[in-house]
Amino acid sequence: MADFVNILTEEKNGVLYLTINREDKLNALNYATLEEIKSIFEEVADNKSIKAVIITGAGEKAFVAGADIREIADLNEVNARKFAENGQEIFAMIENCHKPVVAVTNGFALGGGCELAMACHIRVASANAKFGQPEVNLGIIPGYGGTQRLTHLIGRGKANELMMTGDMVDANEALRLGLVNHVLPTKAEAMAKAEDIVGKIMSKAPLAIGIIVDCVNAAFLPEENGYQTEANSFARCVKSGDYKEGTSAFLEKRKPVFKGE
Ligand code: COA
Repeated sequence: MADFVNILTEEKNGVLYLTINREDKLNALNYATLEEIKSIFEEVADNKSIKAVIITGAGEKAFVAGADIREIADLNEVNARKFAENGQEIFAMIENCHKPVVAVTNGFALGGGCELAMACHIRVASANAKFGQPEVNLGIIPGYGGTQRLTHLIGRGKANELMMTGDMVDANEALRLGLVNHVLPTKAEAMAKAEDIVGKIMSKAPLAIGIIVDCVNAAFLPEENGYQTEANSFARCVKSGDYKEGTSAFLEKRKPVFKGE
């Protein structure tokens, strides 16, 4: 993996750790950081040695405190649309990634930070995590898919309230709302929990994991019949060697060894 200016990457035991590293700006996402996320996810799709991704923010204070407000203070209608479409496209790459992507959120996950966490498949928070979509304070709205993903994750009423008030919720409230999957006391414990989860997922059939991503995402695509997607995808699974291995291993009372083929 190449070196990046705003992101630290480390690959360990098949897991790519992606740390947004602009601690003095509370890891705010400027354009350059978004482009780095994009090129990392292009590599994740192609690189066979990467089996899962964990995204976090540098330091204890913030996961990501939003899009970089300095860069969005002077938009016009044309480049504002491009700004939103570009962010949406990059976050869709995360959501559609065939390898599990887990966010470990520490401190502030605001605006684009909350949107980044929501684009991940699973979220694990530390107890000091705070979530919000405060764009309304700036006279704008979430633009990286937040109006859609927050509504999907926590329902219309609560999504309306959070986006219209700009209020933050703490980690336990986020857990209650279904915005995060787990809350652990510290960032280190949240990271260990995320590692447990990806470790478990990595022991399963990789093609089936990618297909689950497609099917779950199909549930949110109005143009797609998710049940048909599921049936077609189920049929795709049985063409794989992993299907033969999984069923044979069960019948032979041994652990399966999946190859992702
Ligand atoms: N974009 C650009 N810079 C940001 C930022 C953002 N979204 N969020 C924080 N920063 C910068 C601050 O400008 C400050 O930089 P400086 O030291 O050069 O002045 C630094 O990060 C530390 O932030 P600061 O505001 O001093 O910390 P705080 O503890 O007082 O407040 C927050 C923390 C998160 C409440 C506050 O930074 C904030 O409200 N940030 C904006 C959140 C937001 O609206 N996000 C959505 C953007 S669309």
